[in-house]
Amino acid sequence: MDSTHAPPSVACRIAWQSPAPVPEGYRFNAFLEASGGRLQAHGLDLAAFFDGSRSPAAGLPDDAMPSPLEIAFLPNIRAQVAAMDRCFRCAIDRVGYPAPFHFAFASKANTAEEIVRSTLTGGAHHEMSSDVDVEIARRMIRAGLLPKDRMVLANGFKGPGSAYARNLLALRREHRRLIPILEDSAELGFLAGRGVDFDFGIRLKRTQRDAGAGADRDSRFGVDAGELERLAFEIDRTPGARFVLLHAMFGAPSDSEEQFVEALEPALDLFARLADDRAHLRFFDFGGGVPGRTTLDDGFDYDRFARLLLEKTLAVCARRGTRPPALIGEFGRYTVSEHAAHLFGVIAVKANESGPPWYLVDGSIMTSFPDTWALGEHFICLPLNHLDRPFHRVRLGGITCDRDDVYPPRGSVVPLFLPRVAAAELDETPLYVGFFSVGAYQEMLGGVRGSKHCVLPEATELLIDDGEDGGFVCDVVPGHTTEDVLHNLGYGRTARAGAPRTAAPVALV
Ligand SMILES: Cc1ncc(COP(=O)(O)O)c(C=O)c1O
Repeated sequence: MDSTHAPPSVACRIAWQSPAPVPEGYRFNAFLEASGGRLQAHGLDLAAFFDGSRSPAAGLPDDAMPSPLEIAFLPNIRAQVAAMDRCFRCAIDRVGYPAPFHFAFASKANTAEEIVRSTLTGGAHHEMSSDVDVEIARRMIRAGLLPKDRMVLANGFKGPGSAYARNLLALRREHRRLIPILEDSAELGFLAGRGVDFDFGIRLKRTQRDAGAGADRDSRFGVDAGELERLAFEIDRTPGARFVLLHAMFGAPSDSEEQFVEALEPALDLFARLADDRAHLRFFDFGGGVPGRTTLDDGFDYDRFARLLLEKTLAVCARRGTRPPALIGEFGRYTVSEHAAHLFGVIAVKANESGPPWYLVDGSIMTSFPDTWALGEHFICLPLNHLDRPFHRVRLGGITCDRDDVYPPRGSVVPLFLPRVAAAELDETPLYVGFFSVGAYQEMLGGVRGSKHCVLPEATELLIDDGEDGGFVCDVVPGHTTEDVLHNLGYGRTARAGAPRTAAPVALV
C-alpha cells in the first residue's frame, strides 16, 4: 500500500463549531443536513435506526437496530464514479482533448464484496494489488459483474513464481483486459512467454524531482526513468508482450490541484517521449492520491483538477509532438470515503478538569478509525439527534481502556461541539453521534470481523442500496457475539481439548 493518508490537518472543520443550536435546514455538506433537530444523511434520519421512530419507509428496517452501528450507503459509491466521469467528460469537451478518460477503483481502499460490486455496477474498471484480489476479480467475472470490456489493473509486487504472479497468469486466460503493472524488471520474465499474450504497464518510481510535491523521497514502488526505458525495450523485444500503460503515482493526497498536476509532469514527459515510436503505448495512468471529502471543508476541486490535468497533458504532448494518451485514474479514497458512517451512542458524560467534558461512546474510536490515532487524521463527527439544543465543546472517548481511544486525536486543536446533555438524562433521552466519510481504508486497517483491541465485538452493519420504485433494499450483517470473539481468539480450542494442562506450581522458598 502506498501512502494512504493525508497529513494531519490543524485547521479543518469536522463538526458544528458553535454553542448555538444548529438552524433548521442547515446543510453541513452535500449529503448531511439538519431537519427537525435530527441529522439526515443521504436523506435518511439516522437516529431513527435506533429509536424506531421512522414512519414506514420502503425497504428500511422497521426494528430498532443495536448501537454501535455501521452504515454503508452503496448508491453513493456509484454516484462518486459517475461524478468523476462527468468532471472528465466536461473537461474533455472544454479543452478539446482527443482521447478518453477511464475511471478505475483502487480496491485496496475497501475490498468488501458489496463495495467492489457497487463500483463495477457503477461502470468502474478495477485495480488490485495482491494474490487474494485475483480470486475476487475471478468471482466478479463469474458473477457477470466484471465484463470483458473492463480493465483489470494489477499493481503490487508480483515476484517471479509468487502466488500472485501465478494467479495472474491464470486470470489472463479468463480475462483479456488484464494489465499487470510491473514494479520491477524481474516480474516480466515470469509472466511473458507462458502461452498467453500480455499487455503490460510499468510503474514509474518517484524521484527527488517530485519530492517538492509532497511525495515520498524513498518510495519502494516502481522503477526509475532509466530502468523504465530499459524495461520498455525489453517488453518490445518479448514476443506476445506489449507495453501499453505508464503508471505514475505521486503520493499522499494533495489538497492542491496544481501541485498534483505539476508532480505528474515528469511522468507525462517520459510518456510522451516513449509513446513517440510505440503505437501500443496509449494509457497514462495517474493516481491514487485524489482526496475524498473526509471533513466539512470544501477542499479539492475535482472539475479544476480534471481540466488542469488535460491541459498539462496536451501541452507536454504538443511539446514532444506525440498524440495525447487515454487517461486512467485510480481512485481509492475518492470512491469510497463518503459512503460509510459509523454510529455510536453516548453512554456517559464525565467532567474533565483540564478541558472540555468527556462524552464516552459505546464502541472504540481507535479501532474503528485507526488513522485517527496512528496519523492524527480527522473525520466528520456530528450528533444524530438534539441538534436543536445548545452545543458545547467536548472530547469523545472510546470504551476501550486505551488512552489514545479519543477524538479529536491527541494533540489536535480542532474543536468538536456536541449538544449539551446531562449524564442523568441519557437513559431517557439518549444522544447518538456519527462519524462520517470513514469508508476508505479505516475498515481494512482496523480489520473486518477480526478480534479487536480490548476484545470489543464487531458492530452490526447495515448495507443500504437502491431498491425498486424509489425504495431501498437493506442487508443486515449481524455484529459479533461474545461467543464469536472467544472462538476467534482460540477459546473454542480450550473447550475441545478438555481440561487445560497446567504447569506444576513452583514451590516458593
Ligand atoms: C497503486 C495504487 N493505486 C491507487 C491507490 C489508491 O490511492 P487513493 O486511495 O489515494 O486513491 C493506491 C493506494 O495506496 C496505490 O498504491
